Amino acid sequence: MNFQLSPSDLLAPGKAQRSDVLLVLLRDGYEVLPERMTGLPATIAKAMQCGHWSPEAGKRLSLYLPDDAFASRVVLLGIGQGKPQDIRDALSKAVKELVNEDVRLAVYFAQDASLDQIRTAMLAVGGAGYVYSNTKPSAKGGLKKVIIGAPNAGACREGFEEGKALLAGMGLAREWANRPANHATPTMLGKVAEEIARNGNEGHADARFKCEVLDEAKVRKLGMGAFLAVAKGSTEPLRFIVLHYNGADRKQAPLTFVGKGITFDSGGISIKPGAGMDEMKFDMSGAASVLGLFEALRHLRPAINVVGLIPACENMPSGDATKPGDVITSMSGQTIEVLNTDAEGRLILCDALTYAERFKPQAVVDIATLTGNCVMALGNLRSGLFTQHDELAQAIEQAANESADLCWRMPMDDAYGKGLKSNFADMANIAGRTAGAISAAKFLERYTSAYPWAHLDIAGTAWDEGAAKGGTGRPVPLLVRLVLNLAKTPVQFALPAAEAKPATAAAKGAGKAQAKPALKAATAAAKGASSVKPGAASKSAAAKATPAQEHAPKRGAGKGAAAGKR
Ligand code: BES
Ligand code: MN
Ligand code: ZN
Repeated sequence: MNFQLSPSDLLAPGKAQRSDVLLVLLRDGYEVLPERMTGLPATIAKAMQCGHWSPEAGKRLSLYLPDDAFASRVVLLGIGQGKPQDIRDALSKAVKELVNEDVRLAVYFAQDASLDQIRTAMLAVGGAGYVYSNTKPSAKGGLKKVIIGAPNAGACREGFEEGKALLAGMGLAREWANRPANHATPTMLGKVAEEIARNGNEGHADARFKCEVLDEAKVRKLGMGAFLAVAKGSTEPLRFIVLHYNGADRKQAPLTFVGKGITFDSGGISIKPGAGMDEMKFDMSGAASVLGLFEALRHLRPAINVVGLIPACENMPSGDATKPGDVITSMSGQTIEVLNTDAEGRLILCDALTYAERFKPQAVVDIATLTGNCVMALGNLRSGLFTQHDELAQAIEQAANESADLCWRMPMDDAYGKGLKSNFADMANIAGRTAGAISAAKFLERYTSAYPWAHLDIAGTAWDEGAAKGGTGRPVPLLVRLVLNLAKTPVQFALPAAEAKPATAAAKGAGKAQAKPALKAATAAAKGASSVKPGAASKSAAAKATPAQEHAPKRGAGKGAAAGKR
């Protein structure tokens, strides 16, 4: 989708700006000076004076061939006070209803717009105009060209450029999340990452971008036993993707992002119920968001160093798959009893988190469709934010609010990690039946003693269900804003307190990253029974589970039992 920024004058739009559909955004307080009472502004003024229309949020007025029309259809969209949500709602609806690929669309703010409003409008139009067609050739293509106008366009460049970068990043994340597992394998994700790094600067090579894709042999050499334990049930080869963007001095500690890249999550031997299992192709949405972030960085190139890590593999049942009860050794040296093979995200992430130590990062944020439990807690509005680091939490919450890509901080009391106790390993990979999103975060936390760390559970926000089933491109806006904010105003995040979180052997030997003996202190977890809690195959299944169903037999036949399988 090609966006163009133009100074809009509703009186004299000029030939180049002619479009098929013009959407005019109007805020409260729109006034037309008497000397400009001609053409479209006059029509708008008349409609308002007669009381037929006002720019209240959600109000629309369609005009066909108005005087001096420079588009055959003009639709006035009221956006009230111009709040992001109102701009988004008005535009998404209008674009979905009025636009197809042949339409030349123009979106004009009638009054001066803020950078935020420009960006919001672009994201709304781009989001609504996206059409998935990779494996559906019959799908009509989305919008090709869009003109964005505002009287103060000259002052809106920055918002416009950020909007373009975000659209590219979200578009890429969405596209790869949407592609079915047989069209988005770990190998293919590796190729996408290489491609992004190769075309660092708008299609040209840029030494600031680098990509390395590790195969199974290299992953084995690194001692990533947890990642390997998940991947080994599938014939699809795993990949461990390492992306670098060096926009600042080499000595500056990088901000590091880790994305869960399960290209299909069948649950493994602890197999999921059939209903809605297709949605587990979206289980690489965290990985897609890291790729999307790097795609956006290609356009923005801020002065900061960023590392992206993506462990990518399938979680499948087979004669060679990891079995419930198996004990595996993670790269950190800590051993894990795999009580449920469907809690696989944390297993691939924990090794990636240990690998991250070698970059001596200023902070690490992992992004994962980690738990159905998070969907139950927060729905599709806010991603779950888990961290004990207040400053990092604040930076992430600020980025979330500024980008309208919301999250909500969840508690991380150590007692929530009690249930991870195992009699046969340093920890189990699941805890009790309750607070599953938090115990998953507490599991990951045991691998993050070497740096400030936060975890985003995007299980509820990464894709939509039902008729609108598809990736959302979230949380790319949040990640991009976080990177831009930290590039502009660097924050020295303090290391977690040493006594609370002793560094692992691997952390101390950063750079070597060899498997070392287990972390004793971190595993001196309190007692608590670990009960097997198989996962729901889809969000709706997760959401539908009633308390009664939660106690239903694990592998009962029929619809109710399937829905209650969590
Ligand atoms: N990928 C799923 C989480 C998920 C489930 C996301 C449904 C969105 C919708 C994850 O790998 C998983 O299966 N988690 C289990 C963990 C459980 C076995 C402790 C879950 O949440 O049910
Ligand atoms: Mn799973
Ligand atoms: Zn998963």
